[in-house]
Amino acid sequence: MLTLSNIAVSYDGSRILRGVDLNVPEKSLICLMGRNGVGKTTTLKSIVGLVKTDVGKVTLAGEDVTTLTPDARARRGIGYVPQGRDIFPHLTVWENLKISVVVHGSRAAEQMDRVLELFPILKEFLQRKGGVLSGGQQQQLAIARALLTNPKVLILDEPTEGIQPNIIDLIGDALLKIKSEGKISILLVEQYLDFCLSIGDFFYIMDRGAVVASGPIANLNNDIVRRHLTV
Ligand SMILES: Nc1ncnc2c1ncn2[C@@H]1O[C@H](COP(=O)(O)OP(=O)(O)O)[C@@H](O)[C@H]1O
Ligand SMILES: [Mg+2]
Repeated sequence: MLTLSNIAVSYDGSRILRGVDLNVPEKSLICLMGRNGVGKTTTLKSIVGLVKTDVGKVTLAGEDVTTLTPDARARRGIGYVPQGRDIFPHLTVWENLKISVVVHGSRAAEQMDRVLELFPILKEFLQRKGGVLSGGQQQQLAIARALLTNPKVLILDEPTEGIQPNIIDLIGDALLKIKSEGKISILLVEQYLDFCLSIGDFFYIMDRGAVVASGPIANLNNDIVRRHLTV
């Protein structure tokens, strides 16, 4: 569904990504892991179109999207939930969701019921301001908003960061439900190992701008964890 081949990215002339290869098959949940600063967020930005790639290719459903604008990629089916909770704090939950509908039209409107079903707390809090929600509720709102754009691939950057365990479970359940419906593949950047072990199908681990290990999640053994993930 989504493929990165040999992606290289530089900031101010210094190479940050050195040839990243990654594949998100249809109907799968991929965990991209690695310590702080190894290039996970930059990798996601290269998919979404928020950084320029020096070389390499991003393919979505067979189409080369490498030179498309972020907006064009979103319309082709790349849904992005950035690191931190990127919602509008002064707008209500409903208004936050409504923005996606305004931007993405009737196809987004059709998804509203389903998305609210997936995150019942949002339905309950439709009239609350985004800024008064807990971190976990804001994260659910950010995911809900991305889902309204009808993505083929949903990309999330550390959705469990700073969130209570019971809400992490809710988010995990929601992601599994989305995957099981079979229409959306998921690429998750995550530092919380147990979360990846419980919901992931495949893992990729990055170190210093490159993928250094990958495979089925069952192959993610202690040795790999010790070498590439523990500080
Ligand atoms: N906008 C930027 N300008 C310059 N350097 C950056 C920028 N964003 C990230 N970096 C650097 O690129 C490297 C990778 O960052 P990032 O992709 O955010 O890593 P991760 O998400 O794995 O923590 C880090 O060394 C970081 O300091
Ligand atoms: Mg990051």
